[in-house]
Amino acid sequence: MRPRLIVGNWKMFTTAASARRLAADVVRGLGPGSCVGVVLCPPAPYLGVVGEVVRDTAVVLGAQNVYPEKDGAFTGETGINMLLDLGCRYVIVGHSERRHIFGEDDPFINRKTKATLAAGLEVIACIGETLAQRRRGETKTCLEGQLAGALAGLTAEQIRHVVVAYEPVWAIGTGMNATPEQAQEAATEIRKLVQGLVGEGPARDLPILDGGSVNAANAATLMHLPDVDGGLIGHASLEVDQFLSIVRSAA
Ligand code: PGA
Repeated sequence: MRPRLIVGNWKMFTTAASARRLAADVVRGLGPGSCVGVVLCPPAPYLGVVGEVVRDTAVVLGAQNVYPEKDGAFTGETGINMLLDLGCRYVIVGHSERRHIFGEDDPFINRKTKATLAAGLEVIACIGETLAQRRRGETKTCLEGQLAGALAGLTAEQIRHVVVAYEPVWAIGTGMNATPEQAQEAATEIRKLVQGLVGEGPARDLPILDGGSVNAANAATLMHLPDVDGGLIGHASLEVDQFLSIVRSAA
């Protein structure tokens, strides 16, 4: 049985006060003994605040980004040691906003993946095609390239600490989610590609998340597809009722 996971990506939203409140509301609403893993990824400046709220609860702290060095002269960046220090357990890499707004390429994403795994943290590797790529019939090629890029050089054992999030770029923040057929088709493809890279066992056990405009209304179907094990939730993770409803849908 693969673990079920719902990840809240708060992007560049919240204040210190609202981040603390939102995290506390999620912890309270979730209660003890949830069978769905819940990860909250606040903006970097609020990792400490949220980390304090979720410490010793069922909720886990994740980072939206990392610079792939422990520490050093990298002005403005957040190193892996800092994320460890703050109690992070997961790091999102390869998010489409990092790829498209900040120009991150596959080799750089691969460095982040390796640095995160070397520190003993879990990776949430995001991949997904643009609308133009989908229209040109290039979805599979795109997923293949991004997956091979992000996971290059990893052993089967390391892949056991990776979660892949399928997030079609055209669905992120647009209110236009992948249909259950599209999400399942992509997830099957991802599992097949990972099998080609590191073999059947790790591919079968790989948790795959669906993302891009997942909300309380569409989660019930999307979270229960045969190859989908949870979701990466952006805007809907900023509203506690909606986020908790998605978590319940995934159970
Ligand atoms: P969205 O974002 O749910 O707001 O579409 C998802 C994401 O960017 O991870």
